[in-house]
Amino acid sequence: MKGIVLAGGSGTRLSPLTIAVSKQLLPVYDKPMIYYPISVLMLAGIREILIITTPEDSHLFKRLLGDGSVLGCSFSYEVQEQPNGLAEAFIIGESFIGKDKVALVLGDNIFYGNGLSKLLQSKVTVDGGAIFAYPVRDPERFGVVAFDKDMNVTSIEEKPESPQSNYAVPGIYFYDNDVVAIAKEIKPSHRGELEITAINQEYLLRKKLTVGVMSRGMSWFDTGTVDALDDATEFIRVLQRNQSTMIACLEEIAYKMNWISYEALKASASRYGKGAYAQYINTL
Ligand code: G1P
Repeated sequence: MKGIVLAGGSGTRLSPLTIAVSKQLLPVYDKPMIYYPISVLMLAGIREILIITTPEDSHLFKRLLGDGSVLGCSFSYEVQEQPNGLAEAFIIGESFIGKDKVALVLGDNIFYGNGLSKLLQSKVTVDGGAIFAYPVRDPERFGVVAFDKDMNVTSIEEKPESPQSNYAVPGIYFYDNDVVAIAKEIKPSHRGELEITAINQEYLLRKKLTVGVMSRGMSWFDTGTVDALDDATEFIRVLQRNQSTMIACLEEIAYKMNWISYEALKASASRYGKGAYAQYINTL
């Protein structure tokens, strides 16, 4: 399975933070936001990753992340010219995806929790589509999935005014190769975007969509607003300080996945100077 991180969008809800800098490069506590979604793909065991950015910020992401080889991964880059919607990622990424299955993670989504790696790894052989449901206070901000009493999916809607449930769809999606053809078929929504929700609706129609409810032990943040960004920062800060571990340390994940050697791990710390991130790598 291949992976795509979508780090486009104009980030207008975070303005003025995002006037000069892409949202996904902003700090979430001690590292750039995009480290978190990349870590999620890596934890799923995915090493071939396409990073889709705005044209203006492409060079900044390349400077930050390079070709991925220091992580035993392969990173490539494409641009999304306009914020035309999440589903466009599969059209932009068509040649990258080739004949493979693909996972999409949104560049502003953060996941953390016990059993996350196993959960993600269980989806890489998906036949059809696999998405998640996560109970939230404000479902109208998200894609919303509703269930009947037997937990069969009854509807999926994008930012509904009257949500049918309080289950939001978090920004991590697993699909088989049909997703490319489906993305080409769907029409823009009333807000002019190719919605990921339209793709999920099509898989639902084909009876090929599985929706797993994320358990209470799992934490998910969409950092699209200033308060949500601040919440995520606080969460990462408290957890890391209490547990003396680091969330989304990419080098640690690469090492634990056996993608890089101990020597390569040690060498990678030098890139980070004398800060806490480098110190953490040195403690591993
Ligand atoms: C997007 C999707 C939405 C999903 C959300 C998760 O919303 O359209 O279905 O629930 O990401 O973060 P957006 O970030 O574009 O508002």
